[in-house]
Amino acid sequence: MAFYVSLRYHQRMPTKQPKEHAYLIQGGKPLKGRVKVAGAKNAATKELVAALLTDEKVILRNVPNIGDVDVTAEMLTDIGAKVSRRGDQVTVDASRLKSSKVSEAFSGKNRIPILFLGPLLHRFGEAVIPSLGGCSIGGRTVDFHIEALQKMGVAIACEGKTYTARAKKLKGAVIELPFPSVGATENVMLSAVLAEGTTIIRNAAMEPEIVDLAMLLQSMGALIKLEVNRTWVIEGVGGLHGASHHVIPDRIEAASFAAAAALTGGEIFVEDARQVDMLAYLNAMRRIGVPYEVRDDGILFGSTDNLQPIVVETDVHPGFMTDWQQPFVMLLTQAKGVSIVHETVYENRFGYTDALRQMGANIQLHHECLGSKPCRYQNRDYRHSAIIVGPTPLQAADIRIPDLRAGFSYLIAALVAKGQSKITGIEIIERGYENIFGKLKKLGAGIKVI
Ligand code: EPU
Repeated sequence: MAFYVSLRYHQRMPTKQPKEHAYLIQGGKPLKGRVKVAGAKNAATKELVAALLTDEKVILRNVPNIGDVDVTAEMLTDIGAKVSRRGDQVTVDASRLKSSKVSEAFSGKNRIPILFLGPLLHRFGEAVIPSLGGCSIGGRTVDFHIEALQKMGVAIACEGKTYTARAKKLKGAVIELPFPSVGATENVMLSAVLAEGTTIIRNAAMEPEIVDLAMLLQSMGALIKLEVNRTWVIEGVGGLHGASHHVIPDRIEAASFAAAAALTGGEIFVEDARQVDMLAYLNAMRRIGVPYEVRDDGILFGSTDNLQPIVVETDVHPGFMTDWQQPFVMLLTQAKGVSIVHETVYENRFGYTDALRQMGANIQLHHECLGSKPCRYQNRDYRHSAIIVGPTPLQAADIRIPDLRAGFSYLIAALVAKGQSKITGIEIIERGYENIFGKLKKLGAGIKVI
């Protein structure tokens, strides 16, 4: 049983700067074989925090072994929870929390600290958390979170790198989110389950990872339901108990390997990929001509030498998710004709295309909403639509990963490019993809670590 006592990427007392590793990728080899997707990062990390809502043990299975889970487990340990891992199972025992303050050392590490507010307020009546990190893909403010918690009776102040919150008892409230934010929905959920009275979240997010979190909370004794029109209704209960829960498979990782198969002219059976979570993605794959076969235990993705262009808009679930956009854009660089991708969730999620252009891709960015409907970024100064003209051969390059999902698209760009590419910043990709090196290697990629 391994305990979380040291961090993979986060060191509070660094001795010397570690040598930066990089991937060397030789392009041109088709990826073939079978890969098993890990549990979803964006469910597991939230579910670890949910374990703070009870002093009984919470056991999570299918927890991915990735940097973001490590950082989250370290934050739990930091406030006195016992967190242990055996294989893909993580057990959290929060019976003896010692502090309502998540150390400032975690400032900027990921987006999870803000979710500690509700559970810590329930346990201590106060909470202090560090500022957030996560990928630089837009403003990523937390105004929806703060306003919602204030409605629930929480007093919050932000000073320097910390947020301080106080509430003797959280109260149920009716909250209408300005946009169906994943994080804000989860934050209200984690705060509402033990609040006094009923909380209604309107215009809420309902991503499969949020439904998975709701399932864990229900198993812990919460009264929680999803109604029509993006509405969650949560009746506060007097206490929650321990539970055991299997984390859903990662649909972003599944889509990433699907794109890798199609792009490299290969064939990959993506074990555990779930059709129900990927309807929009599978429709898009069908439209551009990528063959796939849904099986009981996963989805087999093939390839075609006749990729077709498409018009796609990213959206909240059940739409085409923003985290599928980057590997999919890579795929479109090899489609025959003009494709359009309109990013409507984040204002700044095309920065990564600079490096792809450098490798030979024909991608132009535009301020206008080029999809079928105008989005929040209409008439604002954000290049959030892309026109991609393909197919264009790609040349190898030395590139640095700017953010997690762009990172995967760089890997697959290198896998089809002519020559050897060097990819740095790989710790960013290891934050969210379990054993990415081993998985690509097993599928036949020409990849090594230097
Ligand atoms: N927003 C606000 N104010 C808020 C909250 C959100 O303006 O208080 C805006 C954001 O700036 C953004 C939009 O609303 O433009 C959506 O943000 P959301 O809150 O839904 O995103 P998040 O919770 O910060 C999670 C995932 C992201 C994923 C998005 C959208 C985690 C840890 N992160 O982020 O995943 O892209 O939902 O589905 O769950 C990733 O895994 O690489 C990743 C970036």
